[in-house]
Amino acid sequence: MGSLNSEIRNKRYLLLFLLAAVTEFFPGCESEPPPVNIPDKGLKDYYIDYFPIGVAVSPSNLTLGTGERVIIDKEFNSLTAENVMKMGPMHPQENTYYWDDADKIVNFAIANNMKVRGHTLCWHSNTPSWILKNSDGTTVTKEVLLNRLKDHITQVVTRYKGKVYAWDVVNEAIDDNPAKIYRESSWYNICGEEYIAKAFQWAHEADPDALLFYNDYSTESASKRDKIYTFLKGLIDAGIPVHGIGLQGHWSVSWPSEAELRSAIVKYASLGIKIQITELDVSVYSNNEDFSVRTPGDDTFTADREQKQLDKYKMIFRVFRDYKSEITGVTFWNVSDKRSWLDNFPVTNRKNYPLLFDQNYNRKRVYFEVVNF
Ligand code: GLA
Repeated sequence: MGSLNSEIRNKRYLLLFLLAAVTEFFPGCESEPPPVNIPDKGLKDYYIDYFPIGVAVSPSNLTLGTGERVIIDKEFNSLTAENVMKMGPMHPQENTYYWDDADKIVNFAIANNMKVRGHTLCWHSNTPSWILKNSDGTTVTKEVLLNRLKDHITQVVTRYKGKVYAWDVVNEAIDDNPAKIYRESSWYNICGEEYIAKAFQWAHEADPDALLFYNDYSTESASKRDKIYTFLKGLIDAGIPVHGIGLQGHWSVSWPSEAELRSAIVKYASLGIKIQITELDVSVYSNNEDFSVRTPGDDTFTADREQKQLDKYKMIFRVFRDYKSEITGVTFWNVSDKRSWLDNFPVTNRKNYPLLFDQNYNRKRVYFEVVNF
């Protein structure tokens, strides 16, 4: 019995020796995991060699047991706060900051090894009314407004320093009208264009490691694209710390074309900045036909709409993969077709189906096209 044991032990030593010799000569082979129990992959895993895949969430989406939470856990490795980091909810009065909701999202992301994009420090919409007014109701001066903006940016960016890796510093400051450059928002009307450069400088001072983005929509339409390019070039040439552009990606089955998308990416990348797709969804309604008017047959996810959306998503992800050196993040706006802001925009109460997961939280046919490469 004793000799049998020692024979087995000797064989085991021999095996271990051979294994050690093999791994010595073929380094790397020891790190191969056994091909068993490979977990079901999510979007983030399919795109691991490309870019993080994110999603915009509300704090309630993170509740354990909800359909949203199951999808978030499995599919995404980056989060954006859909609303709770905007100036209105976060800074409702001059000396009142409301952090709880944003903290929930940031802490959840950190605990789950996810990145966080901060959205957004300065936007014409969601500007709280107090910030534009003196206590007597008159409009503030440029100096007062810039001081308030500085305070807001400094407080928010400092709180999440080292936790939020990228900020949408200024959102939608460029006008859609080809005849105008800047959107004539209260920020612009009171401060002129200067508030934009200042916002980037203050964000950079508060967290020098954070990546700072200018974020906008219709960034692929030729006239807006060229305006944004010139505007960003001006900031970059003046030494303003702008590190990237966020293409919101609120697209539709009819827009943008592959050529428009490619030329926008190439043009912005030529500025030497990074590109992130920050608010991706693909409306099933067509921009150039019935986009903003209710028409018979709306609300239904017809086979035709499904196919057009599938083709569009397939194209845009193919383009994203082609530009993986320029694109450093892709974030979807909302989790599933159960609820999207497009259910009420641009037509109130018209059901849309813009995402990769259906109303029952299942992967749609389009999901499998996006991960099939
Ligand atoms: C813009 C904003 C987002 C969001 C969407 C609509 O794109 O940047 O924060 O409000 O509109 O939901």
